[in-house]
Parts: sequence; structure tokens; C-alpha cells
Amino acid sequence: MKSFMESEYKLKVDPFDNKVDLSAPMAGRKKEKEAWSQIIRQRTGQRGNSFNFVIGDYGFGKSFSLYKIYEEVKKKYENVIPIFITLLPEDTIRKFGLEFIQRIFSKFEMKDFKRILSKVRKEDFDHLKSLLPEPAIIFEKVRKGNDLAFVFLRGDKVIDAKEMHALGVGRKLDSTDRAKDYLLSFLYLLKKAGLDSLLLAIDEVEYIFSQMRGSKISLAFNTLRGIHDLQSLELGETANMIFFFGISIDGWRRLTVDLQKREKSQGGPIQPFIDRKDNVITLEPLSKEETKELIKLRLKQNRTTGIVGEKPLIPFNDEFVGYVFDLTKGRPRDIVRRCDIVLLEGLEQKITLITVTFAKKVYESHGLFI
Ligand SMILES: Nc1ncnc2c1ncn2[C@@H]1O[C@H](COP(=O)(O)OP(=O)(O)OP(=O)(O)O)[C@@H](O)[C@H]1O
Ligand SMILES: [Mg+2]
Repeated sequence: MKSFMESEYKLKVDPFDNKVDLSAPMAGRKKEKEAWSQIIRQRTGQRGNSFNFVIGDYGFGKSFSLYKIYEEVKKKYENVIPIFITLLPEDTIRKFGLEFIQRIFSKFEMKDFKRILSKVRKEDFDHLKSLLPEPAIIFEKVRKGNDLAFVFLRGDKVIDAKEMHALGVGRKLDSTDRAKDYLLSFLYLLKKAGLDSLLLAIDEVEYIFSQMRGSKISLAFNTLRGIHDLQSLELGETANMIFFFGISIDGWRRLTVDLQKREKSQGGPIQPFIDRKDNVITLEPLSKEETKELIKLRLKQNRTTGIVGEKPLIPFNDEFVGYVFDLTKGRPRDIVRRCDIVLLEGLEQKITLITVTFAKKVYESHGLFI
């Protein structure tokens, strides 16, 4: 026997049960998507690195947008490697730059490294060895599938003296400066492997503020600026980096108003960091139409049958959608949450059509703002 969900709601599962569903279909954001697509098109294969910001209030879709950027590159660009990292550190950061770079390396599996590095010609490795010998040795070992070299790069564990000897390098990867040499070497090798750009979607940049204080914050931004400016004239061409930083409105305000103001008198790294920005993409609330689109798309994705006739909003109706828009002011996470609560309650009470009257009662009983 078919469940009520299937027979009445024409749904396989609740389409709204996941509050952070990055793979859900995207509603609206046409302008924003055009903006980020253009940045990717224009910056790919250029020499300089590019800083871009995706700003939005809580639940407006920063993580979601960054993921869509990541997906777009993965799908459409063979010559760009996208990675998605969250700046949410497990514990307090000691060496921001070192950990940041190792986090980048940690996004690569052994097989990824092997595939990429096997495309680099011997003379290019030799050129790297003449300028940055230790990174060259480590990447050469990784190319051959050496586990220790792989662990060394990612900082997965402490390497002892005996292991250092086996690796054939004298200096540990334990400072930001050294990590920058490894990153630069990697960008050079990427280019030699036919890859033009590394795209870094970096989420939750505001965590720099919650995890650090005073001068440490300055140091972190200074390090990011240093990574932006990374280049070596002797080494020759390298893949460039295209950054998309996801940051909350609060975080952005602290960065561009509070910290900048404080720096006016004493100088500091925030201004030079901000000065390097190429583009800012601001996420606004969804419109009423886009709110409807979000709901429709989610329903469609989870239908038992593609055909629901003239009523694509089943089990909701237009009036309910308008009501949800009024309540949420177009904040995507809240839209999803409102739909979820009422759908589950409708299921339990075997309500065929979810109306505004019903929704009001449900929200009231859940102690939610109406
Ligand atoms: N344009 C959109 N179309 C469809 N769904 C969206 C859209 N934007 C956001 N969502 C949905 O809303 C959820 C919340 O968005 P997201 O987690 O990206 O917000 P955020 O800005 O990163 O929030 P936070 O500040 O809490 O990190 C997403 O998981 C996604 O499912
Ligand atoms: Mg987020």
C-alpha cells in the first residue's frame, strides 16, 4: 500500500528535511550566478591571483552559492581544479598560514596527486629542484605514491627524524613561510601538468574573528594577503588562484568598517587585504517569485511521479507560498524550515492540502513567530 506521502503529496521523501542541502536545485540568483561565472571565465589562466567575496546574512545561501561555484567548475572546466574548504577550525589555530595551506593539500587524494603529477615532464621537475629542492623532492615522491611524502604534505601526523631522513629532506613543514614554498611549487607543477587555475571556495571566513583576537586576526589576514601575492619570477609560469570567500554581513562589516577604521591610525594588514579584492557578490533575500521557485524545485526533485498536472505546488498552494514569503522575508533557510515543519505535521494529521490556516496553527503550536 502506498503511504500518505506518496498517494496524497506525490512525494518520495520530505524535500525540506535537510537544512543544509548544498546539492538542492538553485532558485533565483541569476545575476549572482552570471557574476561568478564571469569571474571564473575571465580569471582562469591569468597570471595574477584573484580575491572575490560572497557576502550574505545568515541562511541566505553563502555556503550554497560557494558549492554551486565549485560544482560549475568541476563540471565545465577541465583546466581548473576547484576545492571547497571551510575556515572552521577544529581547535584554535596556531599557525594560520601553515594550516590553511595544508588544508588545501588535504583536499587531494593520493590518486589525484599521482594523476596530476604524472603529467609533469622530468625537465620541469628538474627546474623546480634547482630553485626549491625540498618541495621538488616531496612532490616527486608523492608522484610515485610514497605515503610518507603524502602525509608530510598534508600534516596528518608528526614526522620524526628517521622519517625525515627517509624522505630526504632536512626541514620540516612547520612554518607558514615553508608552506608557501610548497604551495608555490604545487602551482608550478599544476601549470606544467596543463592545469591553469586552482579555484578555492572558502567558507565561513568570519570564523577568523571568533577564533582569534587582536593581533592574531591581523596576522591571519596578512597571511592571506601573502598567499594572494605569492609568485616567483625565476620559477616562471604557475597556475593562478581564484578565491571566493564566503563571509557573513557581520564579518564583512568588521573587516571593512571596524578594523579598517582602527587601522587608519596605526596601519595594519586589513586595508591591503581589502585592496586586493576584485569582486563582491552580495546575496539579497529571494523575491516572492523566487521563493515559489525554491519550493517548486524542491518538490519536483522529490516527486514520486513527474506528473502532478496543474498543481506543481501540491501539497501546498499559492496562498501558502505567499504566506511563507511574508514570514521569512525571502531568507532561504527559513523558507525551507517553514515548509518542513508544516509538511511533517500535515503528514501526521493526514491533511491533504496545506493551507495558511493550517500552517498558522502549526507554527503557533511550535512557538514560531507568525
Ligand atoms: N538560491 C537558493 N535556491 C535554493 N535553495 C537555497 C538557495 N539559497 C539557499 N538555499 C538553501 O538554504 C540553505 C541555507 O543556505 P546556506 O547554508 O548556504 O546559508 P549560509 O548563508 O551559508 O548560512 P550561514 O550564515 O548560517 O552559514 C541551503 O542549504 C540551501 O538548501
Ligand atoms: Mg554557511
